[in-house]
This record gives sequence, C-alpha cells and structure tokens, in this order.
Amino acid sequence: MDWGLQNRISRIIKPTDNRALMLAVDHGYFLGPTEKLEVPRKTISPLLTHCDSLMLTRGVQRTSVNPKFPIPIVLRVSGGSSIIGTDLSNEEITVSIKDAIRLNASALAMSIFVGSKYEKQTIVNLGKLVSEAEEFGIPVLAVTAVGKEIGQKDARYLSLACRIAAEQGAHIVKTYYCDNFEKVVDSCPVPIIVAGGKKIPERNALELTYNSIKGGAVGVDMGRNIWQSDNPISMIRAVRSIVHGNSNVNDAFTLYQKLCKENPVKNSLKKQKIKNIQPKKGNNFQPKKGNNFQPKKGNNFQPKKGNNFQPKKGNNFQPKKGNNIQPKKGNNFQPKKGNNFQPKKGNNFQPKKGNNFQPKKGNI
Ligand code: 5RP
Repeated sequence: MDWGLQNRISRIIKPTDNRALMLAVDHGYFLGPTEKLEVPRKTISPLLTHCDSLMLTRGVQRTSVNPKFPIPIVLRVSGGSSIIGTDLSNEEITVSIKDAIRLNASALAMSIFVGSKYEKQTIVNLGKLVSEAEEFGIPVLAVTAVGKEIGQKDARYLSLACRIAAEQGAHIVKTYYCDNFEKVVDSCPVPIIVAGGKKIPERNALELTYNSIKGGAVGVDMGRNIWQSDNPISMIRAVRSIVHGNSNVNDAFTLYQKLCKENPVKNSLKKQKIKNIQPKKGNNFQPKKGNNFQPKKGNNFQPKKGNNFQPKKGNNFQPKKGNNIQPKKGNNFQPKKGNNFQPKKGNNFQPKKGNNFQPKKGNI
C-alpha cells in the first residue's frame, strides 16, 4: 500500500490499537437540520477533542469546524437526494477530488444502496471514486446505506453489501450492527466500522458499541447516539472507553453516569434555537411577515431595547404561561414599509399615547 494511503488510514484507524472512534455529523446532507445538529458548530466543538476523526460534508467543514484544530476529516462526497424526495438511493458524487484535497480530507465517504433502484449507479460511482482517490493516496469509506429501512437489514444482506463495497476497492466499510455480526466481518476483507443508527437509550448504545467491537469491527462512526444524548460529552467518553480502553458495557455505563453527575450542566448541549419556528394554532400572536417566532414555555422572552415591538392590551397576544414577556418601556413599534400590518378584526389595536406608532407611508 502506498505510504500516503497508509498514513491517511492511520489517522482514522489508530495503529496503536487498530481501533477507530469517528464522530458522524454528516446527517444534514439528506436530513436537513437534524435534531441537536441544527447549529453544527455548537454540536461539534465540545466533542472534537474526544473523537479520532470527523465525518461531515464540505459545507459543514468550511462553516463549522476550526481549520486550526488538527482533526482528521472523513469527507462525505455523495448526495443528491433528500428525506422528502422520491428515492434516497438516487445519489451521485457531489464533490471533486480537487476540492477534497483542498479540504485536506483524510478519507472520502460515499454511500452505496445495494438492492435499491439505483444500486448500479451507486456501486459504479464507488468504483470510479476509488480509482480517482487512489491516484492521490486518499482512502475511500463506503457506507452500506439502507435508506428508510434502518434496523431492518440482517447479516445476510449486510454481508452482501459490505463485500460488494470491498470488492469495488473501498478501504473501509461502514455498516450497521446486526445479529450474527461476525458473519458480516468475516466475509469482508477490509476493516468495518459500525454506524450508531437512531437514538436509543445510552446503555443500549454502549452495548451496541461493545458488541460491534467484540464482533470484529474496528470501531464506531456514531452520530445521533452521541449528540442527541442529554450528555454528549459524557456519552462520547463512555463510548471511547469501550473503543480504545477495553471497557465492558457496565464499566462504560458507570463511567457515563459518573461523568453526568460530575458535570451535568457543562456536558449538556442545550436544545438549539432555530429560526422560523411556527406559532402554534390559536395563539393570535402576529409576528412580522417571515419571522414566525414562537416563544416556548419558560423561554423568558424579552424583546431587546430598540426592537420596537409592543403588544397592547386586547391584542390577543398570549404568551404561554411562564414566558415572562416584558416589552420594554418606551419601545416604539413601527411596522415597516411593505409589511402590510393589519390588526385583526376585534383586536382593538390602539397605540398608547406617547408610543409614537406611525405606520409608514405605503403600509396598508
Ligand atoms: C448516513 C450516515 C451517518 O453518518 C450514519 O448513519 C452515522 O450516524 P448515526 O450514528 O447517527 O446513524 O452515513 O448515511
């Protein structure tokens, strides 16, 4: 094997113990803003020091990862379908080898969809990608993707898919854990890494990690079961204790609980705020066109000085119990030109004396 290729693989599968802990954060490429990955930088930053490598898209790499931090990148280079589209398997290669090199990728990742409508397209794309990447000494990780049938594939299917990926020249294969997992590993001539899958209780995810390693996987490429955990840092450290530290499930879960107790607040990635939350039915709160702001119970919403929003008594604006909405004294609510602000029938909108409410020229 060429030196460059071997060296890059060694960044991902650590030669000291032949194990790998990869953090998967590429979900947005077909799922959009996945829960707890809405703001990728917030999710990724606290976990970076605890994983060996990061699997992501070039968009998230460029916008959300500090280039000065020396983390090996497994760059997803396939895409083209979405969770609301007609067929998840209809993927193509979306990133050029030049851009992957510019991003200093340690490996390229793409999915194959064995048994699907676009099986041939994805498998041929894998073969082509391997040929191109090997010219530059870059390894390829093939994901045996299952689309919406996650958790439904058995050892017979996964052995078939992993073997096909390896036959096309993939240097590492990522697949799912299943009963008789050893059969999948034994019939695949390249290292196997296991995806975490949908969020399950922490102890079960640690069990999946332990069984995968015991079954012969070199490690895990885990996403949701780490960053959707209430304590992502505690969770990744517990996973790490299995992958690199030879802990069993009990040891790892005890460690998880201990770390949660020691650092409950710091470890917790608070629910991330996203824009365009839809006001709930029946609230009668009229946000400006395009804002769609919906304060939730306990949010302590306080419009900032200068925001000029002032709901009036009788406007039917009803913050939920416990929201403490307190528009500040002296705010001058002024709908902007073109907003078409129209208090609804029965709202009795009457700016108070001294509030300077002045619909601008052009407002209906
Ligand atoms: C999707 C992927 C994901 O990276 C993979 O599923 C790992 O994430 P998770 O542990 O959340 O399943 O490759 O095709």
